[in-house]
Amino acid sequence: MIAPAPRRLFDAPAVRALLLQCLAFPLTLATVWLLARAGLPMSYLTVALVQGAWAAGLAWRARLAPWWRAIQFVFAPALVLAQALHLPPVLFLGAFLIFLLIYWSTFRTQVPYYPSGRAVWDTVAGLLPPDRPAAAIDIGSGLGGLVLELARRRPDCRVDGIELAPLPWLASRLRAKLAGSRAHFIRGDYNDLDFGRYDLVFAYLSPAAMTALWRKAEREMKPGSVLVSYEFVIAEREPDRRVVTTNSKKILYLWHF
Ligand SMILES: C[S@@+](CC[C@H](N)C(=O)[O-])C[C@H]1O[C@@H](n2cnc3c(N)ncnc32)[C@H](O)[C@@H]1O
Repeated sequence: MIAPAPRRLFDAPAVRALLLQCLAFPLTLATVWLLARAGLPMSYLTVALVQGAWAAGLAWRARLAPWWRAIQFVFAPALVLAQALHLPPVLFLGAFLIFLLIYWSTFRTQVPYYPSGRAVWDTVAGLLPPDRPAAAIDIGSGLGGLVLELARRRPDCRVDGIELAPLPWLASRLRAKLAGSRAHFIRGDYNDLDFGRYDLVFAYLSPAAMTALWRKAEREMKPGSVLVSYEFVIAEREPDRRVVTTNSKKILYLWHF
């Protein structure tokens, strides 16, 4: 089962995983000391494997999700192996900065970037009222594909996107400018946004975000509006409607207010 999105920093699985790595370190030192005393040959890789084993064990004890145990196990050995490649340190810094700008608060929100695609955009376009202007938003708009497409198809509608991560947001702004689109991209957290301004709220998030999303939608969405979630359901509330996207088996879930 996937845990709900953490509210405090120390509840975030990535932060807990980091703390467990720190906790594993003295245990690793003690284990390595005992193994060395017993005459076993030690290398940096052996030490890293011991560290990985302790970290994975602690992750299991702390009930982190199974994939965290695997990440915890390979983390230190991967560092040692990467070190052996003798790559320039600036490469690591560059990769870190790019991942930071793309994934930003994912360690807290547990909603990484992955795009939906044209089949979903077509289906969402069909959910807008055909005979009157409406306001729609993609909460977590990524590179802006859905928002740009809706704005292109429906010039009578106001179409917004809000995105937390700086690089995808910047890319969507640039795409809108280059395409001369009326789509509006906000950089920020959808939790700070009033959903009551929209007739359609589209979400492609993750299971961890859905309970809080439902509470917010219930508080704020106006009568006649619709919440659309691609792929992910809300445990607390059955959807009013399911729509299968045109060329995939994936489902859009709809809640009417
Ligand atoms: C799965 S991607 C979906 C991208 C896009 N909506 C699409 O359909 O292709 C989810 C996006 O939501 C963003 N996100 C996660 N939590 C957010 C928040 N609280 N406020 C704004 N954006 C958020 C992530 O940075 C990520 O880009």
